[in-house]
Amino acid sequence: MQEIASLQAKDAQEAEALRIKYLSKKGVITALMNDFRNVPPELKKEVGMKINELKNAAQEKISQLKESSSVAASAADNVDLTRTPYPIKLGTRHPLTIVKNEIVDIFSRLGFTLAEGPEIEDDWHVYSSMNFADDHPARDMQDTFFVESHPDIILRSHTSSVQSRVMESTQPPIRVICPGRVYRNEAISARAHCFFHQVEGLYIDKDVSFTDLKQVLLLFAQEMFGPDTKIRLRPSYFPFTEPSAEMDISCHLCGGKGCSFCKQTGWVEILGCGMVDPAVLEANGIDSSVYTGYAFGMGIERITNLKYQVKDLRMFSENDVRFLNEFVSAN
Ligand code: DAH
Repeated sequence: MQEIASLQAKDAQEAEALRIKYLSKKGVITALMNDFRNVPPELKKEVGMKINELKNAAQEKISQLKESSSVAASAADNVDLTRTPYPIKLGTRHPLTIVKNEIVDIFSRLGFTLAEGPEIEDDWHVYSSMNFADDHPARDMQDTFFVESHPDIILRSHTSSVQSRVMESTQPPIRVICPGRVYRNEAISARAHCFFHQVEGLYIDKDVSFTDLKQVLLLFAQEMFGPDTKIRLRPSYFPFTEPSAEMDISCHLCGGKGCSFCKQTGWVEILGCGMVDPAVLEANGIDSSVYTGYAFGMGIERITNLKYQVKDLRMFSENDVRFLNEFVSAN
């Protein structure tokens, strides 16, 4: 009886095999019934009842197994693949994602590969390895979010930390583009937020020069803002590049003639860049007597504002669907 109760079948075929084994003409239970006539008369009643019980249990169990396997099979058969699907309302990509994808796409066509690093970082990768002096103001409480119990652990304030992450694990040639979120302790307003997004670029090889940087950035600007876009580089300072520059593009709204958007200058700033400081190469295990490199970093919000004239930075994180729906066609 126990054996019968524990019978299992994966499908109708297996259930039929069980029926043959126990209940067919040559089945085990049928054989018992055929032997019944040899049972001594005084035991006939008891044995007869037992055999009947066994037969009924087997019949019931096997028909149960057949039924459940046919239910499963018909559920699978009943999926109508030709039926029109329910209309699904697709969301839209976030404007920052659209622009980030476009930036990454332009640089990947130039041979840059994607690299990413953690948002929760240590001081070494964000500042020390990037040649920030111990008393550099960017490390200040006003800029950086620190983890109270672990002063060495911070929220990265720029994606330049990914430069260090890549250099420490790879030898040149290195050609990476690193998008990501960054954090700064700023009061939230239309023009500032405590988190925003950047894209970092890094190229290190033998004989990399400032000319290479300029050409790549010109190509990027023209792909992003149109073929007539001009660029200009103004000397600047960053701890991790030497020489350093900030890059402007000709205002794509007025074509460089001067308008309120570019404050009548004809130019708008879009990124910082420069030649990787040899001290940064050395700090990250790369021989600066063999290799040179360039780096650049830009804010994705900034590029998005230029492309789509989003006036208030807070729009990017409020998830107002009326705002997000404006970017449906840009997807
Ligand atoms: N890390 C800089 C910032 O957050 C941006 C930057 C400037 C990155 C110059 C670079 C660079 O790689 O070369 O303001």
